[in-house]
Amino acid sequence: MRILVTGGCGFIGSHLVRHLINQNTFEVLNIDALTYAGNEVNLSDIHNQNSYSFVKSNIIDRAKISDIYASFRPNCIFHLAAETHVDRSIDGPDEFIQTNVVGTSVLIEEADRLRNSLTAEERENFRFIHISSDEVFGSLDHDFEKPFAETSPLKPNSPYAASKAASDHLVRAWFKTYGLPTITVNCTNNYGPYQFPEKLIPVIILAALEGKPIPIYGQGENLREWIFVEDFAEVIFQISQKGAPGETYNIGSGDVVPNIEIAHKVCDIMDSLVSTSKYLPHQDLIEFVDDRPGHDFCYAIDSTKARNLLGWQPKTSLDDGLQRTVAWYLAHQDWWAPLREKKYSGSRLGRLPSAKSAQ
Ligand SMILES: NC(=O)c1ccc[n+]([C@@H]2O[C@H](COP(=O)([O-])OP(=O)(O)OC[C@H]3O[C@@H](n4cnc5c(N)ncnc54)[C@H](O)[C@@H]3O)[C@@H](O)[C@H]2O)c1
Repeated sequence: MRILVTGGCGFIGSHLVRHLINQNTFEVLNIDALTYAGNEVNLSDIHNQNSYSFVKSNIIDRAKISDIYASFRPNCIFHLAAETHVDRSIDGPDEFIQTNVVGTSVLIEEADRLRNSLTAEERENFRFIHISSDEVFGSLDHDFEKPFAETSPLKPNSPYAASKAASDHLVRAWFKTYGLPTITVNCTNNYGPYQFPEKLIPVIILAALEGKPIPIYGQGENLREWIFVEDFAEVIFQISQKGAPGETYNIGSGDVVPNIEIAHKVCDIMDSLVSTSKYLPHQDLIEFVDDRPGHDFCYAIDSTKARNLLGWQPKTSLDDGLQRTVAWYLAHQDWWAPLREKKYSGSRLGRLPSAKSAQ
């Protein structure tokens, strides 16, 4: 079976590619534009395997995507390539529209063309798995007792979330109109090894390590549901095997935690793993900074539908996952130091011009 993954050099994509290669059954082709967030090093442990190949390509390049599809003839496509950082979407929404909306439309339109050229059996088993976010549902505000279900309306609030919601609508339309066998997976916040240093958990770890202020937006009360990335990679694969075309599946861990609690947990782990640090206790480095514009209060998701279908539940508890994540960053300075030096120095992103000039 031939599997094509878009965005396989990113955080979740690299874990998914590794998970697929480790099954020893599939030929996997990874397409990635290698934006600031894409890093071939994320797959250095498997890149020499015969069953793995990589093509550098932008998903909005229709001619190239069409050629890649025609020569590789995938049986299944996992679409993860995206612009993903909410703060960057506030500073520059355009890239988000291009990649997340236009790029997705190119991939599904070409996938439909490809499917029409397959044998009857290949057509029957073909799948397009679209990876999306819980952020498309908007914010639960102070009512997180009732998490988002697959039937909840899409009410995105940030440019990132709006671009992902648009892509979800396109994928749905290609199923309804053309019969392309698509499945959409909406997931909560992932964390774990290889997450780009701009995201909350690596920001906390690296600031604590360097004795710098640990920036927490607002009062740190915003709630997020956190899933360990290896659990997510595994369940995406299961959904591709057992999910039904045209369906959407919500995936979350059930661990809904305020950002300030995440910061405290990471700081406690840092205290124990770097017990000779000059910056103990690391919690003292926490600094509340002005909030993200339009910051959603709470995301939480009901994943009963996928759990019932697959008999799945996450293997990694939040405490274990955080322990593994902190230990990984401490052991992999060779991975994150070049990114901090060349791609993202750690400066604040996503502030409105009025907030910047008021400083
Ligand atoms: N990280 C999360 O918490 C989370 C949660 C839910 C859903 N998602 C979704 O999962 C997917 C992967 O997220 P991630 O956190 O791994 O993202 P990431 O930012 O770490 O990686 C994105 C990858 O896509 C590639 N890419 C970007 N634009 C491209 C383009 N135009 N053409 C080809 N490649 C391009 C980048 O080079 C990078 O390798 C995204 O679709 C995201 O919306 C992420």
